[in-house]
Amino acid sequence: MHFPNIRPRRLRNSKNIRDMIAETSLSISDFIYPIFIKEGIEKKIEVASMPNIYQFPIEEAKNEAKEAFDLGIKSFILFGVPEKKDEMGSQAYDENGIIAQAIYEIKSYLPDAVIIADACLCEYTSHGHCGILDKNGKLLNDPTLELLKKEAFVYAKMGADIIAPSGMMDGMVKAIRESLDENGFYDVAIMSYAVKYSSAFYGPFRDAAESAPAFGDRKSYQMDFRNSKEAIKECMLDIEEGADYLMVKPALSYLDVIKRVKDEFYYMPLAAYNVSGEYSMVKAAAKMGWIDETAMMIETLTSIKRAGADIIITYFAKDIAKILGDSHEKNTYL
Ligand code: PBG
Repeated sequence: MHFPNIRPRRLRNSKNIRDMIAETSLSISDFIYPIFIKEGIEKKIEVASMPNIYQFPIEEAKNEAKEAFDLGIKSFILFGVPEKKDEMGSQAYDENGIIAQAIYEIKSYLPDAVIIADACLCEYTSHGHCGILDKNGKLLNDPTLELLKKEAFVYAKMGADIIAPSGMMDGMVKAIRESLDENGFYDVAIMSYAVKYSSAFYGPFRDAAESAPAFGDRKSYQMDFRNSKEAIKECMLDIEEGADYLMVKPALSYLDVIKRVKDEFYYMPLAAYNVSGEYSMVKAAAKMGWIDETAMMIETLTSIKRAGADIIITYFAKDIAKILGDSHEKNTYL
């Protein structure tokens, strides 16, 4: 076919035309802001590898959430950093533990906020792995599910709206759904980290959450980055087990996976996690004066949306909210 009269540049002639025909846009309601709450500190501590991201004591975490909420960010994913860790990660499911208390306090302070509780054990285990280990250091799947059930129950009881299991255990969604239903929490949803790769991009997060494995790596449970068909299998299983949302993580090196999952499971809300390493790379390059941080942030977040994500978890949430908020009057953010 031949279209001699079509000149694509006509559609790029002015900013208002470009805005009119844009296929993708960002809105404040797309974003989830991660917050780290650390036990036993009085004042917030900046994470060395993540400029402008902090570990907060509960009181300051409430203020941080409120500040973001007032900027238009309504959803938060919470991570706890306990003082004491043990082999069974017991602080993860202790009602008096730092994360349970943080969920309770933040939800009570901001009842309209959507509180998502990351459900994993790596921040709470002395060995830093995402479950129970046997004598040889092998991660035991089914015994770990029992702990995840307790964890989900405690977080729901403390007021979490959504439980987000991130440990990549087989059967975790089914186990958590059972635990929630048995306890009457039918309305608490599950956002499964269905497609979570074993990734070097989590490095800075492990500083923030103090959750680096003491030995070995997570390759026996997190996915191999050479695979994308496997992502379809992981999602299929999680949908069958009762997931309400799917997630792909990390986001930027995995835009093809986001697209593939969205094309296949178009009826499921899909989150993408713009992870710590993706954030820190932009921050570091900006600090060196090598890139325009704001432009880079907008372009990368837009690319995640364009690939098919409905929701983006990002450390840039407050920054992008400020830009989108201001743009309301100016009617543009680009
Ligand atoms: C596990 C968890 C991790 C992240 C979110 N949940 C780390 C891991 O699997 O090691 C990473 C998020 C990020 O890098 O921003 N609880």
